[in-house]
Amino acid sequence: MHDTSLSTQAQRRRAVAMVVALTAGTHLEPLHYERRLLARFEAGELTLTQVDELMATSVHQILYHSRATSPVADADLQRLLESARAHNAKQHITGLLLYSDGYFVQVLEGEESAVNTLFARIQHDPRHHEVATVRSGPGPRRFSDWSMGFGHVVEADLQQVLTAIEVQWPFRVPHVDDPHLLALLDAFA
Ligand SMILES: Cc1cc2nc3c(=O)[nH]c(=O)nc-3n(C[C@H](O)[C@H](O)[C@H](O)COP(=O)(O)O)c2cc1C
Repeated sequence: MHDTSLSTQAQRRRAVAMVVALTAGTHLEPLHYERRLLARFEAGELTLTQVDELMATSVHQILYHSRATSPVADADLQRLLESARAHNAKQHITGLLLYSDGYFVQVLEGEESAVNTLFARIQHDPRHHEVATVRSGPGPRRFSDWSMGFGHVVEADLQQVLTAIEVQWPFRVPHVDDPHLLALLDAFA
């Protein structure tokens, strides 16, 4: 007996893999989050309908930058990241935290009240100041993890990202290949 639904599913997976391969490097290339969803589909974890629903889900996004109050040691960043991961996972908040030479850039995305409540807490955190919101509003979810991405990046790469997202910054413009930065560019460029 033929299991037609399984063969359809397998054919769909092959079709998705082919589309991803064919669009690589073009403007049709799936964004970071979409790629992760498609990979989960190819692995059989999600159905195409679930992928479609997740891609269509709009979330509230906040992008801000700030300055560390004093230089932040790696161990402190690690601690911050661990507690942020745990909290964000519970609240289904995804995003990215970048730190470079005294400057933070963070993307938060998720359910609007959860994101706003967290951002209000973050804004009052004494570890940083000059918190400036670059973008705040609805959009498709771009980061796949229920946690924070993290890049300890050189300031030159940070400048590239900030230029792409139209933030004025007193740094040079360089080359970017950090995957977290590329994800940020995917999301906001
Ligand atoms: C730059 C920066 C980014 C932060 N990002 C997060 C985050 O994404 N999630 C989170 O729970 N806490 C984050 N925090 C920590 C919060 O500001 C706050 O300390 C934490 O939520 C605990 O809050 P509470 O002490 O009021 O419980 C961040 C802090 C800083 C300085």
